[in-house]
Amino acid sequence: MDRYAVVGNPIQHSLSPEIHRAFAAQTGERLRYDKLLAPKDGFAAAAEEFFSAGGLGLNVTLPFKAQAHRWVSAADSAAEHCGAVNTIGLDNGATVGFNTDGLGLVRDLQAQRLEVAGRRLLVVGAGGAVAGILDALLAAGAESIHIANRTASKAKALAVRHQGRVEASSLKDVKGSFDIVINGASAGLQGKGGLVEPRLARGAACYDLLYSEDGQTPFCRWAQQAGAAWVSDGLGMLVEQAAAAFAIWRGRQPDARAVLRALRPNQAA
Ligand code: ATR
Repeated sequence: MDRYAVVGNPIQHSLSPEIHRAFAAQTGERLRYDKLLAPKDGFAAAAEEFFSAGGLGLNVTLPFKAQAHRWVSAADSAAEHCGAVNTIGLDNGATVGFNTDGLGLVRDLQAQRLEVAGRRLLVVGAGGAVAGILDALLAAGAESIHIANRTASKAKALAVRHQGRVEASSLKDVKGSFDIVINGASAGLQGKGGLVEPRLARGAACYDLLYSEDGQTPFCRWAQQAGAAWVSDGLGMLVEQAAAAFAIWRGRQPDARAVLRALRPNQAA
């Protein structure tokens, strides 16, 4: 059977296998989709083993998106520009990298009726996940994006790639106020919620790129306590980026919102 997988560390709580199985059932495609745990320095070995054993496509999650970009033989323009890959496919036997995170995020925000156009955005974190969403947020019309990161130099390096509309600082040096706060730091995996001052979330729409089964990630709980006007975790983005990956691999566009409703019946959109 055609084999696909998601590779990351940690990986045990990933919902990607369930989502891709649901897409396969929806579209009548026959495939197998597994989880691969790779050691933190072992992405290349895991990916090589998977493709040499006949695997057809990989999803890549934290902390391997930048490593995956360096590993693939070629990358599409979205992945090339952001330097991060979340989907790998094969073209005539050669590995090709894509990035469907930005598209997935923007599709989820649209479905949840959160307008990005004309809004001032604060993005927390500057790893592979954040690199993957900046172009899509700018293309969706964001007025400005401020990236705040523990390691300020990484935020600044990302800002330089998007000269003019993206600024950067450390977590403590965020000035001004924002309409939308997006969390792209992985500190939630260690149970940490907000990494910036709570005043930045007050009255803002807050979105976590991380997700949890009940939608209550540490960042979402922090945002609620800080007085956010609207809060969402990233399950919708996960399903949407998966749908875009499925379409790349199988040439069929699944119904992402139907799968999201099945995973979380009480989510509005
Ligand atoms: P991903 O692919 O999910 O982006 P990553 O490239 O490892 O994974 O990036 C993780 C992000 O979370 C980084 O912005 C990291 O900050 P640094 O660049 O300073 O390392 C941030 N992060 C992770 N744990 C953190 C913590 N405990 N406190 C603050 N930031 C954290």
